[in-house]
Amino acid sequence: MRYPASKLPQVGTTIFTQMSQLAAEHGAINLSQGFPDFDGPALLKARVSHYLEQGFNQYAPMTGVPALRQALALKTEQLYGRKTCPDTEVTITSGATEAIFAVISALVRTGDEVIVFDPAYDCYEPAISLNGGLTHHLPLMPPDFSIDWQRLAEAIHAGTRLIILNNPHNPTGALLSAADLQQLAELLRDTDVLLLGDEVYEHIVFDGQPHASLLSHPELAQRSLVVSSFGKTYHTTGWKVGYCIAPAPLTAEVRKVHQYLTFSTITPVQLALADFVQQQPQHYQQLPAFYQTKRDEFCQLVSGGRFHYRPAQGTYFQLLDYSEISDKGDVEMARWLTTEIGVAAIPISVFYAEPPQELRYLRFCFAKNTDTLQQAAARLNAI
Ligand SMILES: Cc1ncc(COP(=O)(O)O)c(C=O)c1O
Repeated sequence: MRYPASKLPQVGTTIFTQMSQLAAEHGAINLSQGFPDFDGPALLKARVSHYLEQGFNQYAPMTGVPALRQALALKTEQLYGRKTCPDTEVTITSGATEAIFAVISALVRTGDEVIVFDPAYDCYEPAISLNGGLTHHLPLMPPDFSIDWQRLAEAIHAGTRLIILNNPHNPTGALLSAADLQQLAELLRDTDVLLLGDEVYEHIVFDGQPHASLLSHPELAQRSLVVSSFGKTYHTTGWKVGYCIAPAPLTAEVRKVHQYLTFSTITPVQLALADFVQQQPQHYQQLPAFYQTKRDEFCQLVSGGRFHYRPAQGTYFQLLDYSEISDKGDVEMARWLTTEIGVAAIPISVFYAEPPQELRYLRFCFAKNTDTLQQAAARLNAI
């Protein structure tokens, strides 16, 4: 027999897996994949153990544990001023990745267009393609990686179903402002275009800037499905628990997919998160300062070398411009840095459909202990 042709012929092993493997083979310090090398809060882990021991180990409700949905509805109202119904507008998912796949599967039909800004996180396009949709790539241009509103206006047409906005933005660390959201609202006012907000780094914003969530803009919130992840906020990326907040009719459609994708998400972790979100709001309130210290530490450390940077405005990633060091392409540069210098980073051209010429940036994850950052910077500064 012959096996069928691939439905995703362009998809190979992700760059994150490739770079992490290369880092392991060469004993390099791994600043490529986006995960902390420190642990989540002790109280949160204690609550997970508690619920495990107490026997909360069977299926959670399909939509998520009520206490967690209620905690998120309250938090959304307090932080973003959007009154949110825990029963009809909040769905707990197995990571933001599942939420994104469920949203796209629920909304995108054959031939629908989805606008994505490059460099784009890598899980969007495969989900769009598997659902018969077409991805319309619009580039964010260096050095500030902002949206070209004119190009966006020209790209929107009757076949545009969805725009995906990742804010704060991975891999560039760029932020959208309240003024950006207003511009978007005006652009979309007479359309039926929906918005998927990938806001997994919502609490990692710097220099006193607020996170301009789609949920905070009353007009945009009506057409928005906003996805976030506890993995980023609580340093627990391995738990893969996320959620989606959207108006009830859209949530109903997302749940139809979620129901058959995973049905439900790990029970004891959801219960523990419900306790922690309510009891320790200071944890996410202090996250900007916590990560800003790390960003500043990393930038300060590498300022002794030949890399250039604009400090990230959000996320736990810092782009470093290596144009003074080499004119290698960024994929080649990332491999060289891993194998010869012993520091692994992510090339950003792989997140563009058509990378701009002369893109000379690598993405470094600074969600690491001081020791790790110091060792990495010493190697980078020696180049
Ligand atoms: C922009 C972005 N979206 C979504 C995700 C996925 O989040 P999760 O691990 O909760 O599935 C990530 C994780 O790195 C991310 O960086």
